[in-house]
Amino acid sequence: MDDHAQATTLSERADALEEHMMHELEHIVIKSALFNLADGKMTDETASALARNPGKYLLMQEDPRLPKMPATPTLIDYFKCRFASTSHLLQSAAHAKKSGHSEKVIMACLLHDIAVAGFIRCDHGYWGAQMIEPYVDEEVSWAVRTHQALRFFADESVGYQYPEAYVKWFGPDFRPEPYIVDEYKRARNHKHYMTARLITLHDLYSFDPDAKVDLDEFTDIIGRHFRQPKEGLGLDSSPSAHMWRTMLWPTRFL
Ligand SMILES: [Fe+2]
Ligand SMILES: [Fe+2]
Repeated sequence: MDDHAQATTLSERADALEEHMMHELEHIVIKSALFNLADGKMTDETASALARNPGKYLLMQEDPRLPKMPATPTLIDYFKCRFASTSHLLQSAAHAKKSGHSEKVIMACLLHDIAVAGFIRCDHGYWGAQMIEPYVDEEVSWAVRTHQALRFFADESVGYQYPEAYVKWFGPDFRPEPYIVDEYKRARNHKHYMTARLITLHDLYSFDPDAKVDLDEFTDIIGRHFRQPKEGLGLDSSPSAHMWRTMLWPTRFL
């Protein structure tokens, strides 16, 4: 069997498995266009899924495959029930705390990659900043937005160098896009530059791979620096509540 034929078979098998899982569910789950694009497909399965599942309704509630969220979710609930991996965030925050930085810097480190953890990778600094903007001090969201650009630029004054990990992951010839270069240039003269720079300094992937940091260590800081809406995070009417709702119900049809 040639490589192409084998790849087709594998992808067909993956589709068949997905189909099987769908039949196990009470409702029809349709992937958002973006989820399909991430699989390299430009497609909408709605019509064919409805035809293959007569009598079933499209999912308009929580996804039973995901951990159940409380009726009024908090930031901590998203950490526990939605974020794919939190150890990087917790380790970065713990590192900043150990270095004696302010609670705002610790908070910024704790939240800097939440878009990667629970939402989307591309432009994660921008998405992450928007998600938290209504609930944190402007210094924290600005730093989260800007750390994405600053990661690509050294700052000898604080001992920050271009990450070796980036050379390994993206290749030695990778250069950031012009909008990232411009963002960096604007950030250099901003009053919160150092907060974003400190995120990059504590943005370490393996300063201690065995270190287990408990989220409980940051409960008080979250309480003081994250304005939890009483309706539940995502069930409120802030300008970014819909982004939290999307994490709450990522497969709702509408
Ligand atoms: Fe990041
Ligand atoms: Fe990070």
